[in-house]
Amino acid sequence: MELSGAILVALTSLACWMLYLNRKGQRGKGRLPPGPTPLPLLGNLLQLDPKKMDRSLEKLSKQYGPVYTIHLGSLPCVVLCGYQAVKEALVDQGDAFSDRGDFPVFYRFTHGNGIAFSNGEKWKVLRRFALQTMKNFGLGKSSIEARIQEEAQCLVEEFRKTGGAPFNPLALVCRAVSNIICVVVFGRRFDYEDDDFLTLLHHFNDNFRLMSSVWGELYNIFPRLMDFLPGPHHQIFRNFERLHQFIAGRIRGHQKDLDPACPRDFIDCFLIRMEQEKHDPLSYFHMDSLVMTTHNLFFGGTETTSTTLRYSFLILMKYPEVAGEIGEGESQRGVASSFSRAPRELLGLASFPGVARATLGSVQLPPLGWHRQMATYLPACLPPGPLFSLSHTHQVSFSLLAAKVHEEIDRVIGRDRAPCLADRKDMPYTEAVLQEIQRFISLLPMGLPRAVTQDTPFREFLLPKGTNVIPLLSSVHYDPTQFKDPTSFNPNNFLDENHSFKSNDAFMPFAPGKRICLGAGLARMEIFLFLTTLLQRFSFQPLVTPAEIDLTPQCTGLGNVPPPFGFRVLAR
Ligand code: HEM
Repeated sequence: MELSGAILVALTSLACWMLYLNRKGQRGKGRLPPGPTPLPLLGNLLQLDPKKMDRSLEKLSKQYGPVYTIHLGSLPCVVLCGYQAVKEALVDQGDAFSDRGDFPVFYRFTHGNGIAFSNGEKWKVLRRFALQTMKNFGLGKSSIEARIQEEAQCLVEEFRKTGGAPFNPLALVCRAVSNIICVVVFGRRFDYEDDDFLTLLHHFNDNFRLMSSVWGELYNIFPRLMDFLPGPHHQIFRNFERLHQFIAGRIRGHQKDLDPACPRDFIDCFLIRMEQEKHDPLSYFHMDSLVMTTHNLFFGGTETTSTTLRYSFLILMKYPEVAGEIGEGESQRGVASSFSRAPRELLGLASFPGVARATLGSVQLPPLGWHRQMATYLPACLPPGPLFSLSHTHQVSFSLLAAKVHEEIDRVIGRDRAPCLADRKDMPYTEAVLQEIQRFISLLPMGLPRAVTQDTPFREFLLPKGTNVIPLLSSVHYDPTQFKDPTSFNPNNFLDENHSFKSNDAFMPFAPGKRICLGAGLARMEIFLFLTTLLQRFSFQPLVTPAEIDLTPQCTGLGNVPPPFGFRVLAR
């Protein structure tokens, strides 16, 4: 009897709590969108898979619509799903949706200091300062372009040293990419074997992976509880501490030989501003914001771009027709025919005695063996569709409707000079491939959490000031109203019928609106220059067949982290 009484009390309290949480958004000055009913303390944890947070959230939107409320523990967050909802909020009401939302795993380290995790006036001042200073140190100018070109050549050299042996590109790519932001922030690049640099990059990698793991997600939902529970998430904070020490050490070094008349880098400029405002108690320029801002630029500028490049390698090997491993072929004797569908019909070429010579990219294939290579190669990598046209009475030419990156590099840039940013406008296919890669991988699938700066009417709801907002960027990239067949990799998403580059407003890997990624321009330059420079010199050879390449992220949380892989690079 006593037991059933206790159970009754517990159940009644539970029901009241659920009712309270569910109605909370409807009362007072706020009216949050409806969503799944939360449990006490757990919130909606049982409806979420912390290993695939983005997909769980997208799945719930099928039931609750494109704008709904989810409870992460006891914290209500408004989820925005699909292009229309994200655009209406982050673009059309850009100011109202420009605060940073709760992000406990970062907050324990930053305490709201630095650009990425501050809000209000402090964020505006720090962001303006960072943009201006980065511009002064060459961002958007030819000096940073030259720097990326040089670093890309260093990477080519390192790749060349592998001599065609298999290797994992993670460390090399990370060093090259990080060196670009190092020049802006620390005024110097690091040698690829520098021990401090390697340790630092290891901490970055480790943190991106851990924060994207289930442990990182659970920490964001239950920070206080997770502080007490053992687990690998504690490593995140140890790594942060070492990063803090490294950055603080560099800053001390700068303080020793700072010349206010001749700042060398971002840190010098910040130190000068600190000195100018040292008597202002309201100044945002102090040591903590310098360390955290440096960390934001360093982390943001390293992990994101290098992970995108690594994923690019994997995708180009998975879909080799994009990289251009299939090139033009021609017959010595005439063959009259016309094919509209590949690959089945193309395999028929193997039986055409007239086809005697073919190239893959710019590589001449063995005279008799090429069609056999095609025969093993095509079924694995080509999506069905009218990819090839075979025509002409005296010449068999098959070409991909979408041009190919290797071919475009050879035609527009050639082999005698390094790729430069001015080439971009003449390389619509490459541009389309790069954007399609960023769309397809949706590197930060949930962006970074936002919050509303004031009580904000949105659709039929009213979000109280400070409400957390999750813009589900991956749902925009996979929105079928914006991209045809979004789950397939298809550069045609960014090409028009004349094969010219076609932009799409639903392309938002850097998140849209007032808080758009501060390094978006730099990242796009780096991705283009690094990738074209590598593809100009090498073809990427997977260690397994394209069909066996698995693009599923190793973990999905803060970021989509690709599975570790090895490959060979062969000189072209
Ligand atoms: C492929 C590369 C990159 C991707 C996909 C990416 C993506 C993003 C995203 C989605 C955000 C969140 C924006 C929001 O608040 O909604 C962000 C913020 C940020 N990113 Fe990037 N990023 C990349 C490269 C970089 C680089 C190279 C830098 C370094 C200069 C950088 C620095 C930052 C900073 C400082 C913020 C915080 C901005 C703020 O809160 O005002 N990112 N990035």
